[in-house]
Amino acid sequence: MRSQHDLLLKVENLETSFDLGSRVVKAVNGVSFTVKKGKTLGVVGESGCGKSVTAHTILQLLPRLGKINAGHITYYGKEEAVVLNRLERNGRKMRSIRGKEIGMIFQDPMASLNPVYTIGNQICEALLQHDAMSKKEAADRAVEMLSLLGIPSARARLKDYPHQFSGGMKQRVMIAMAMVCNPKLLIADEPTTALDVTIQAQILELMKDVQKKYDTSVILITHNMGIVSDMADEVAVMYMGKIVEFGTVEQVLSRPQHPYTRALLRSVPVLGIRRNMRLETIRGSTPDPSEMPEGCAFAPRCDFATDRCRSAPPQTDEGQGHLVRCWNLEEVRKG
Ligand SMILES: Nc1ncnc2c1ncn2[C@@H]1O[C@H](COP(=O)(O)OP(=O)(O)O)[C@@H](O)[C@H]1O
Ligand code: SF4
Ligand SMILES: [Mg+2]
Repeated sequence: MRSQHDLLLKVENLETSFDLGSRVVKAVNGVSFTVKKGKTLGVVGESGCGKSVTAHTILQLLPRLGKINAGHITYYGKEEAVVLNRLERNGRKMRSIRGKEIGMIFQDPMASLNPVYTIGNQICEALLQHDAMSKKEAADRAVEMLSLLGIPSARARLKDYPHQFSGGMKQRVMIAMAMVCNPKLLIADEPTTALDVTIQAQILELMKDVQKKYDTSVILITHNMGIVSDMADEVAVMYMGKIVEFGTVEQVLSRPQHPYTRALLRSVPVLGIRRNMRLETIRGSTPDPSEMPEGCAFAPRCDFATDRCRSAPPQTDEGQGHLVRCWNLEEVRKG
């Protein structure tokens, strides 16, 4: 068992579902992981596997139909650990750390930026709300953050409105806004997916610089394995609401054990890793999340599936912090 002093966040057994009347979607189905101080955890998996709902569950910012059925979160960023053991929507304890201790960036900046307020107003708002700062101090801090994120003439741009910024610049503003209170954890959900590749790379580099400067931990959600290999220290691979593999980047990307991770890596080009391999698509498609199979959810698509896989959910096999949820690891390693 790892000592707790290098941990910033421990998430245990999150379960979140959407009751859609005719069916219940188990979007997050027993997710546990840890985030270390100053480190980046990459969360990867195909669209719909539950990455965003996991982030929203942690932040307790779920849409109306979302319900947290179970889960336990411990935040070690304060002198005394903050324990959230009855998770709900918009719970009081989380409200006290969200925004200040935990910053967040989502894929679509327009969903988070208010078109009728200036950028300066929006960045300073968090500072004035959480820190006892004068307006002048807040503006200076906003300029510092915008400059760090490579926004030219930052002071003059405080007076501009969101529509006066390009897509890439808006995303930089979002990062500045999320980082301005110097949070200990940043949750970034597909922060650059909507941008073109060159701008993506620039923004991720800037994010890395700011993270290093402030020693921020990051949960980086992406479906892009290349971004994970560039940015993350540890990786969680999600499939149908569960983490099927967890470990260091080296363990998961260079020595993947779970058949799903292996298939995922075969299906995407990852710079520097297995550069010459032929790309394949993963056979079959993700099952309907409201009809969760009894056993391993990957069984219908897995070349190694046996009767046991189809009837009982696989236990986690843990070696040196490398967690793999699969019944047939020996066969997979041979095969
Ligand atoms: N507001 C919602 N109402 C109903 N179902 C939802 C809602 N948000 C997400 N889901 C379902 O939860 C599952 C996980 O979604 P999500 O976390 O957004 O996936 P990802 O971010 O990995 O692409 C999906 O099956 C999705 O359809
Ligand atoms: S438990 Fe069985 S079906 Fe699931 S990934 Fe492992 S071998 Fe494949
Ligand atoms: Mg998502």
